[in-house]
Amino acid sequence: MTVTMKNNKSDTGRLFRLVEVDYLRANTSPDFDIYIQTSDNREPVLYRERNLVMDGTVQNQLRDKDITNVFVPISQEAAYQEYLEDSLEIFLADTDINTHAKTEMLYSTATDMVKSFFENPNSDLLAPRSERLVDNMIQFIGQDETIFSSFLKTGSFDYKTYTHSVNVMMYSQFLAQHLNLGDKEFMRKLGIGTLLHDIGKSKVSNRTLNHPGRLNNKQWNEIKMHPEWGCDILEDQGFTDEMVLDITMHHHEKLNGAGYPHQLSADKIPDYVRVVTICDIFDALTTKRSYKNAADSYSSLEIMRLEMPGELDMAMFLEFIALMSTSPEAVVNSR
Ligand SMILES: [Fe+2]
Ligand SMILES: [Fe+2]
Repeated sequence: MTVTMKNNKSDTGRLFRLVEVDYLRANTSPDFDIYIQTSDNREPVLYRERNLVMDGTVQNQLRDKDITNVFVPISQEAAYQEYLEDSLEIFLADTDINTHAKTEMLYSTATDMVKSFFENPNSDLLAPRSERLVDNMIQFIGQDETIFSSFLKTGSFDYKTYTHSVNVMMYSQFLAQHLNLGDKEFMRKLGIGTLLHDIGKSKVSNRTLNHPGRLNNKQWNEIKMHPEWGCDILEDQGFTDEMVLDITMHHHEKLNGAGYPHQLSADKIPDYVRVVTICDIFDALTTKRSYKNAADSYSSLEIMRLEMPGELDMAMFLEFIALMSTSPEAVVNSR
C-alpha cells in the first residue's frame, strides 16, 4: 500500500483527492461521495453516493477490478478527514493489518490534521482532535519495535510545515522513549506539544515561509515570532499545560543562550525541550527545502555533531545517534 495522497485535477477543473481503498472500512457510512477512475486520464465518475452503508463487498468489488485508489471531491475533504480520524483507533488495533500499513495511515492522518490546523488555527477542535490522535499514536508505537523503522520509511522527504510537525512528533516520541524520560502522561504532553510546536507559523506570511535563499532581517524577525504566536493560538484554544506551551515557546532555544525568543541559558531548558530541539533540527536538515537539497541522515548527524556542540545537549544527541543506528532505514535514508 502506498501512502501517496495527492490531488488530481481533471481536464474539467474538478478537484479530487486520491484515497486508498484500504482506508475505507466495512460497515461504515462515509459522509462523502466516492468516485473511481475507469481509465487513465479519464475524469473520475461517481461510484457511491455519500451516506450509503458500505458492507465488506464494496472493497472486494473494487479490488476485483484492480482498483486500489478511489477519489473524493476536494469539497468533501473535511468529511473524509473526520472519517479517517474516527477510523484510526480501529485501524491501528486491527491484527489483520501489518505494522507498515498502520504507520502509513497514522502518518497520513496526522499530516492531514496538522494541515487543517494550519489552515484554520482558531478551530475549537484543535485540542480534542490533537489529543485523540496523540493517544492513538502512543498506544500504537508502544506495540512493537519495528515501528521506528516503518516511520523512517514512511516520513515525507519534502519539507512542509505540517509534515515537519508530524516528523518532529514521531522522532521526539522515539527519542524520549529511548531515554526513558517520562511516564505515559509525559509522553502524551510531549506528543501534543510537538504536533503543534510550529502552529505559530500559520501566522507567518507564505511569502516569508516559502522564501528561497537567505531571509532578510524583516523576514527573519517575522519567523522568530512563531513561538510566541504559537503559544497565543494554543492559549486561545484552552491549552494550559506548561509542558505543551514550553515546547511551543522554547524549541528554538540553545544551551549556550544564543537561541530565541528568550535566549534561555541551559539551566532553564528542560529535558523535554532539549529532545524537541534535536529532533526539530534533524528533520529540518534531512528534508528538502526550496533553497537546499536534503542531507542524508549520516551527514545531518555529522553537521549537528561538529557545528552545534554548544547549542545541543550532546549526551542526549549521542543517544539520538544510538537510536538512529538501531534502524537500517536511518543509514540509507536520503531525505
Ligand atoms: Fe519552530
Ligand atoms: Fe519546527
